[in-house]
Parts: sequence; C-alpha cells; structure tokens
Amino acid sequence: MSETERGRRGPIDGGEAALRIVTGHVVTPVGGPSGEVLDLERGAVAVRDGRILAVGEAAEVLTRYPEGPVEPHGESLVVPGFVDCHVHYSQMNMIASPGLELLEWLRNYTFPAEARFADASHCAEAADFFTEQLIAQGVTTACVYPTVHPGSVHALFRSARAKGLRLITGKVCMDRNAPEHLLDTPERAYEQSLELLEAWHGRGRLEYALTPRFAPTSSPRQLELLGRLAEEHPDVVIQTHLAESLPECGWVGELFPDEDDYTAVYERYGLVRERSVFGHAIHLSDGELDRLAAARASLAHCPTSNLFLGSGLFEFGRLRRRGLRIGLGSDVGAGTNLSPLASLNEAYKVSRMVGEPIGPFEALRLATLAGAEALGRADRVGSLEPGKDADLVVLDPWATPVLGRRADHAESTAELLFALMMLGDDRSVRAVYVAGEKAKR
Ligand code: GUN
Ligand code: ZN
Repeated sequence: MSETERGRRGPIDGGEAALRIVTGHVVTPVGGPSGEVLDLERGAVAVRDGRILAVGEAAEVLTRYPEGPVEPHGESLVVPGFVDCHVHYSQMNMIASPGLELLEWLRNYTFPAEARFADASHCAEAADFFTEQLIAQGVTTACVYPTVHPGSVHALFRSARAKGLRLITGKVCMDRNAPEHLLDTPERAYEQSLELLEAWHGRGRLEYALTPRFAPTSSPRQLELLGRLAEEHPDVVIQTHLAESLPECGWVGELFPDEDDYTAVYERYGLVRERSVFGHAIHLSDGELDRLAAARASLAHCPTSNLFLGSGLFEFGRLRRRGLRIGLGSDVGAGTNLSPLASLNEAYKVSRMVGEPIGPFEALRLATLAGAEALGRADRVGSLEPGKDADLVVLDPWATPVLGRRADHAESTAELLFALMMLGDDRSVRAVYVAGEKAKR
C-alpha cells in the first residue's frame, strides 16, 4: 500500500482515519535551540490521519475538537515514540552471551547467529518477533542492522510496513574477516544494496541505509564502491560502527596503515556526512570529533552494550559540547535490553562515571528528538508537535510496586521521569500509538 493509499484508507491498517484525543500528563521536548520541554499535567494530543493535529491543555484541545473520542490515560505520561538509532535484529537469539570482548564476541556468538538468516522463513519469524518487541518497548522509529542476506532486509521492511513503524535498514556489507558463508564481494554488495534501495527507500515510513558493518570487515574496494553508491544517493542514511573497543581500533590501524586515524578510513571513501550514523564512537580524538561534527555526522550512544562488552565509557557531555548529534541505541544483542528506559538508566550511570550527569529531560530528549535529529527525521518524529507523525508512548509510573511507591513520592515531573528511567522497562509502557493507531494496549 502506498503512502497515498494509506492516507485515503486510514493511517495504518485500513481503519477509518478517525480523530482521537489522547489525554494524560504530556511531556515532550520541543524543536529549536532552546532545549525546552513542554510539560502539561492535564494535557492532550489530538490525532488524525496518522498525524498530530494539536497538543495543549486538555480543556482547550477538547473544546476545539469536541467530536473526537477521548482515550484517557489519567496521570500516566504521554511522551513521543522512542527512537532507537542502533540495533541488530539478527542478534535476538544470542542477546546476553557473556564473557568476551567485542571481536571474540562477534566470532563466537554473532556470526553463527547471523548465518541462520540465509533462510527466508527464519528471517520472517525473527523480523516479526523483533518489530513486535520494538512496539512493546515504545520504540516507533528504529535504525536497524539486519545481516548480509538480502532476504533479511526484505523480511524486516515487510514486517515494519505491516506494523506501520518508521524503520531504516540496509543490507550489511562484509567482504573480509568474517566466515566465508557470510561474505559478499565489493561488486555484489554494491548491486544488492542498490537493488534493495530501489525496492524500499522512501516507501511510506521506510528508508534505506547503506551498511558497511565496520572497517575491519570491508576491503578498501568495498568501501570505495559503497562510497560511490552514497554519492549517487545523497539522501540515504549510512550506518556503521566506529571506535567501539581498543582492540578494534588497533586492528583498524593495522588494516589501514595509510590513514591517520579510524575516522579517516570512512572519510577517505565518502562515508562521513549528514545522516551518517556511527555506533559507539568511544575512543576518538578531539580532532576526529571535530571533523565528525563539521560533517554534521551523528553518533549512536549505546550504553548497555558498551558496559556489557566492557568497551568503554561514552562521554556524552564532552561530545555534545563539541556539537555532535547524538541519539540513543540499544545495540541489542551486545546491548542487553531493547527498552530505551533501560538504556537511559545505564546512560545516566555512565554519565555519572564521567562526571557529567544527564538530567531527566535531557535523557528524554536523547531517546526521542535527539535520535530523530541524528537520523535526519526530526521533521517527522521525535516530539509531540502539530504536523508530525502521531507516534506516542504512554508510560505508567504505577506499573510496578517499587516504581509506583517512588512515583507516589515524586514532587515534580523531573522526579517522576527520572524514576521511570531508573526503574521502568516495557512493563511501564501502557500504550503505544504508531502513526495514530493504537499498537499496544
Ligand atoms: N562491530 C561490528 N559489528 C558489530 C556488532 O554486531 N555489534 C557490536 N556491538 N559491534 C560491532
Ligand atoms: Zn552494533
């Protein structure tokens, strides 16, 4: 179904494009440089045709749209749909595989799990499980790694389309330093990426991402051809990993002895630009950070993964000050939880370790609007503002006994939000609206 057809028949599933009013405690970052948050204890969001019509005090919105059926969520928080900027759907079967540093972890757990995606029925089942779980966590926009198999990309796009999710993905490209059966060639990677891009990019809420896994698994020739494809398609996302672990950085130095640093490898092949999303980015010099910022590139902060693999501590404050766009990534399966609330929990603890604690409103922004900015889609998602896609998450601060007890004693929205981030997970996600349609009840 095309976007136009969907608009005519209804936002997602062919239902009528009905007006509805979602009420609750509305908390959302707002666009612009102010870094402000809109906080409406008795707020409402009016939604029609998959888009946000109005956001404001409930009394006002209900007067303006008296005909709309109301979906009341009491004192629960109504926040924008979460944005996961970096996650591997192919790694759900080996999430929580312990004990190894990144490169051994890839060899021992990741590559065997990804080999199964040669089978189309495995792809379809895994994709449906994954997209269902995204929604369960309140994630309505995601930038995802599949595997080298084109079938893994088709399956994920199909599943996301069926559920109405905003999803960005693209075939993983690797032509060296991985098991033979997971390798492509520079030419095959170019052709398959192009074919998939032409089939899916810009269809409804779906977008393509050029996806060289990381420098060690792509030859210079493969990076060169992907750089050519990037040049031919200047609007697509590019996603890869950068400077996640020290052994990885050392290996890149050996594989690319002519480059001054890790970032220079991607720069050499035209892979650093706006909408380039670099996962991890922990071990970078100030010079590299400045070059990434000047190119308007983005970073995905993946705290649960960085702690799980012992990769390092991401210095959020330092990187923000250097002007980098930073979104939040679960990085499952090195990440240990698909819940953005769980990622924020660990992001907060990492920020304490590096001496610059992230506040609750800044954290909410990281998981929503900042992620949308990092993916170049803040025009459509990331905040509750009229005209944007109606992706809403309802968070129940009384979902579990301990959280509820703390919520009873919260004296401000900031405290309530912080408690949700420290104590919440998918159990706190009471409802999810994907492009205006209720996807989790
Ligand atoms: N670097 C290259 N591939 C991967 C991956 O699958 N997960 C993580 N965390 N890092 C990577
Ligand atoms: Zn990753």
